[in-house]
Amino acid sequence: MVYHKTIPTVFLFVFVTLYFVISSDAATFTVRNNCPYVVWAAANAPGKPGGGRRLGQGETWNFNSDPGTTQARVWGRTNCNFDGAGNGGCQTGDCNGKLVCQSYGRSPNTLAEYSLKQYADQDFINLSVIDGFNIPMEFSSASGQCTRKIRCAGDIIAQCPSQLRMDGGCNGPCPVLKTEEHCCNSGKCGPTPLSMFFKQRCPDVYSYPKDDPTSVFTCPSGTNYNVIFCP
Ligand SMILES: *[C@@H]1O[C@H](CO)[C@@H](O)[C@H](O)[C@H]1NC(C)=O
Repeated sequence: MVYHKTIPTVFLFVFVTLYFVISSDAATFTVRNNCPYVVWAAANAPGKPGGGRRLGQGETWNFNSDPGTTQARVWGRTNCNFDGAGNGGCQTGDCNGKLVCQSYGRSPNTLAEYSLKQYADQDFINLSVIDGFNIPMEFSSASGQCTRKIRCAGDIIAQCPSQLRMDGGCNGPCPVLKTEEHCCNSGKCGPTPLSMFFKQRCPDVYSYPKDDPTSVFTCPSGTNYNVIFCP
């Protein structure tokens, strides 16, 4: 009767080992709303379960993200209404009318973007206003080995150039004007007066498609992160 006991034990060992291999490196994201208004926080990465949560002033939401996650985004939505089943919509950042996002949001939305455990075991993080700006944000490491803090908290909405103004936000030049100059599908383009409007107020943000040298930051994989609305 020995093997009745040993087979489950082997499986248990495998699961426990797998659990530690997977979870030891997962990054914890703490999303906090410091705005004096409600923000419906959202997170999505292609092929991963999405997320979304209503955050009153001072409330936080924690979630984990696996190593190897790419093209992930955290953003905030404003002026939302959802029914009991989580269907409805938002003025900015809406993700197909769902409380729990399974897709990216609609511009304008300020984005905290990340890819975990990529080249040389680094996490790549950035704050992007390519899809516009709806809420001031900070994206920072919550672990001692990386002290990076990226912030975009300028008065972007009030000063927004007239052609980018939208209800609840200041949209990005590409989503509004849809021209090669702003969208850069060819991969060859530079800053424009409209992208510089954002960059002057938020020097660390990703403000146009080739803005990498001043807007991509790395932390060692295993770092945990804070995302703060209205830092
Ligand atoms: C910002 O991060 C996202 C996710 O890692 C990535 O897809 C995007 O290319 C990054 N932006 C830049 C300028 O590298």
